[in-house]
Amino acid sequence: MRPSAGWYKNFFKNSFYNPASPAAVKKAPDEARFVLKQLGLCRGEALLDLCCGPGRHAVEFAGKGLNVTGFDFSAEYLREAAARAKKKKVSLRLVRGDMRALKFREEFDAAVNLFTSFGYFLNFSDDLKTLKGAARALKPGGLFLIDIVNGECVRKGFVPRNWWDMGDHYHLEELELTRDGAFNTWTKIMKRTGKAQTKSFFSRLYTRERLGAALEKAGLKPLKFWGGFKGQPLSEDSIRLIVLAKKT
Ligand SMILES: C[S@@+](CC[C@H](N)C(=O)[O-])C[C@H]1O[C@@H](n2cnc3c(N)ncnc32)[C@H](O)[C@@H]1O
Repeated sequence: MRPSAGWYKNFFKNSFYNPASPAAVKKAPDEARFVLKQLGLCRGEALLDLCCGPGRHAVEFAGKGLNVTGFDFSAEYLREAAARAKKKKVSLRLVRGDMRALKFREEFDAAVNLFTSFGYFLNFSDDLKTLKGAARALKPGGLFLIDIVNGECVRKGFVPRNWWDMGDHYHLEELELTRDGAFNTWTKIMKRTGKAQTKSFFSRLYTRERLGAALEKAGLKPLKFWGGFKGQPLSEDSIRLIVLAKKT
């Protein structure tokens, strides 16, 4: 099933997909620690969490004394981020919008985009708009760290159909690879009621070379690549593709 161009407007809802699952929330402090080590920010400096979702990393960054702005399209996730910040007694500035139309100008010392929150658009020009917007949002010399799934590893381990038992529901995945990326169809079947929901999304599959070239085009020079949040070297078997880039 191929998604519509605006699939992201309906996909990111807790009733279907929750980026802040207990397992993901548990990982967030270690991931945030790795990110902050690479960014080397000082207390009070300004950080943009682009596509912050329910704010699991944003609250960790704010807890380290940074001035954090979380940006996302999903009003539901932003409400959750606000509640999470309140509970953790930290302050977040939360802004709703489309990542292709960022209005920030030289405001941030650094920006991050985490957990494959990039590559969603059917046209590459929209991905480029996002990167250019992130570059404009940075002060001169500002750093950008992006963490996405490693396209090379997805292609190598391609499985067209798979399913998992998630406790209260079954999760089915169907994958169709194209030259540009992957059309993914997810079906969630609730065990108690048998109720099923199916939604599709697109993810452009980036390799080190492809992401590096896109960043360069947007005025962001790649400095370092990793294959995971423990600082593992990037290889074709790394599931993550993490890049640190600097505004040129
Ligand atoms: C996989 S989730 C990751 C969220 C968060 N970074 C995390 O690690 O928990 C992707 C996020 O991208 C956001 N998103 C999707 N399309 C967007 C768009 N066009 N503009 C802004 N945010 C978007 C979603 O709402 C969602 O919060």
